Amino acid sequence: MSQRTQVGIVGCGPAGLFLAHLLHRAGIESVILENRSREAVESTIRAGVLEHWVTDLMREMGLGARMDREAHIHSGITLQYGPNRFHLDVTELTGGKQVTVYAQHEVLCDLIAGRLADGGTIHFEVTGTAFHDVESEAPRIAFRHKDGTPDELLCDYVVAADGFHGPGRKAIPEAIRQEYNKTYPFGWLGILAEAPISWHELIYARHEDGFALLSTRSPEIQRMYIQCDPADDIANWPDSRIWAELHKRLEIAGNWHLSEGRIFQKGIIPLRSFVCETMRHGRLFLAGDAAHIVPPTGAKGLNLAVADVLVLARALEDAILHHRTERLDAYPATALRRIWKAERFSWMMTTMLHVDEAESPFEHRIRMADLDFLSGSRNAQAAVAENYVGLPFDA
Ligand code: PHB
Repeated sequence: MSQRTQVGIVGCGPAGLFLAHLLHRAGIESVILENRSREAVESTIRAGVLEHWVTDLMREMGLGARMDREAHIHSGITLQYGPNRFHLDVTELTGGKQVTVYAQHEVLCDLIAGRLADGGTIHFEVTGTAFHDVESEAPRIAFRHKDGTPDELLCDYVVAADGFHGPGRKAIPEAIRQEYNKTYPFGWLGILAEAPISWHELIYARHEDGFALLSTRSPEIQRMYIQCDPADDIANWPDSRIWAELHKRLEIAGNWHLSEGRIFQKGIIPLRSFVCETMRHGRLFLAGDAAHIVPPTGAKGLNLAVADVLVLARALEDAILHHRTERLDAYPATALRRIWKAERFSWMMTTMLHVDEAESPFEHRIRMADLDFLSGSRNAQAAVAENYVGLPFDA
């Protein structure tokens, strides 16, 4: 069995789905392969902050209606360190831009529904996905359907939007892969709780016992994180211990109060920074987490994946419709300029706000001076705000 399509996409996450929509808009066919079930894709809890241009793009694609009804627009963030707290007025500092708090899986639900309504093809629960002949003009993706039937996608171009652990990046010979890696000695313990909103904006707190973040999902459901050992077992974190840490790290006496509720989801994720600069090999292109990971502190992961495919969709359009490959040849270089700036911002926010026991007392004082400077300097705040809402786009 085999099927033909112009662009074969592995991965039904933000990169793969936005790419399929952008290509469809340009009149280019694609097929998405995904190893998880639709239910798993639509319910896996990930990040939740959309840069302003991502929400504009969703509206432009006709996929913004539910987001506009249900999402929360945020015009600032609160930062705390020790007994100090300050407000960063993101909208005022960026000439009117905002961020939208709308969970990644909600974005994926809207994009999947949109693709299927457009007659697009997504094969869920495939196994054995493998890229072949990517150095030729006829790349192929072999896979097995859910029922075990072998199949193959014959493509003009193939895109690995299959995440950090997917087969896409590994289809590029290791000897030519240029990779940069940084792991942090801490992780995030994230929870979802049935509780009312405690504060009207996100709070990023550096406490002497570790970072904490207050976020939200809806008026009834709140998302919170605390810095922990990435190797820790979630079994060591009964709800009472989580709440005690959240109160201690987030509350400033007399200022506001954290509302508790039933915790219905909890898990620990490691923090890592990673870039694979070899984002192209023949007719194989990497996009999103397949090519880069940021620690979640800057809320850049999803946004960066969408940025990649905005560049890639335009480049594929030039190549497929107009037989011009300049943009495609320039894709890694173009995408990497934004990627490294997001890596820088995410690393900066992470090191500034987390407690690293291996850090020297000198470095510790520098982190505190970073926060002190940020709290008092409009210029420093403007630089953080500019990155937080999303840097200007140069596709
Ligand atoms: C989230 O709500 O999941 C979230 C918000 C802000 C971040 C990271 C995660 O920086």
